[in-house]
Amino acid sequence: MKKTTENTPPGEIPVDKPFVDLVKVSKIFKPSITALQDISISIARGELVFLTGMSGAGKTTLLKLICCLDRPTKGVIEVEGKDLSRLKPKQLQLLRQNIGVAYQNFRILPDLTVFQNISMAMEVAYRSPTVIRRRIDDLLNMLLLTDKRDTETGKLSRGEQQRVAIARAAANSPSLLLADEPTGNLDTETTWQVMNLFKQLNDAGTTIIIASHDETIYKNAPFRTLKLVQGKLV
Ligand SMILES: Nc1ncnc2c1ncn2[C@@H]1O[C@H](COP(=O)(O)OP(=O)(O)O)[C@@H](O)[C@H]1O
Ligand SMILES: [Mg+2]
Repeated sequence: MKKTTENTPPGEIPVDKPFVDLVKVSKIFKPSITALQDISISIARGELVFLTGMSGAGKTTLLKLICCLDRPTKGVIEVEGKDLSRLKPKQLQLLRQNIGVAYQNFRILPDLTVFQNISMAMEVAYRSPTVIRRRIDDLLNMLLLTDKRDTETGKLSRGEQQRVAIARAAANSPSLLLADEPTGNLDTETTWQVMNLFKQLNDAGTTIIIASHDETIYKNAPFRTLKLVQGKLV
């Protein structure tokens, strides 16, 4: 039987309820930059969507609101059925553990190795050392980084650092993955390795939002594309 709002047990999110839901969301940076204006978006559980638009359109701002790194000026954002503005710090922390984010500026630690950067994210989620080693080996293999496993990330190229950030975001197989310009520094081959990883995670149930102005990754892809122009959805 298809789960609906009426027959879903309490606490379990029904399939017909959006996994990420924005209602008339605006973000104004003081004094007067309207980064996002009246954005309403519903993303289903298990969906993969591309968020496109030129530089400055508001993509990064939107992802930051969804992962609670910033708050909207107006509007409501629900993730997994929870209104983000109503969550207590502890609840927010729990929710964030299920969200993997690959930031546009990576935010990896340059003095730690590739392995250590990814491993830290998995230890926070109480993964066992064996699970951590296996998962990291798999991810590095998939992202063509195996030979960089024990290199400090500060010594890597931008493209390699970018893939480390993606591996870390994907490491715990989060229920929601946000990737901000994930192929910005990659060549054709590594771009497709990254896209294959996203598809694999998505097939396993992860909801994914990819912010990108790189047409080659979304042009012929069988996924929904949302376009921002100067902070508005078009
Ligand atoms: N912290 C901030 N303070 C002021 N303005 C900001 C801030 N973050 C982003 N902006 C502005 O908001 C707009 C959208 O930026 P951003 O979300 O980074 O766009 P995109 O990721 O699509 O390139 C831009 O005009 C940018 O300059
Ligand atoms: Mg951006």
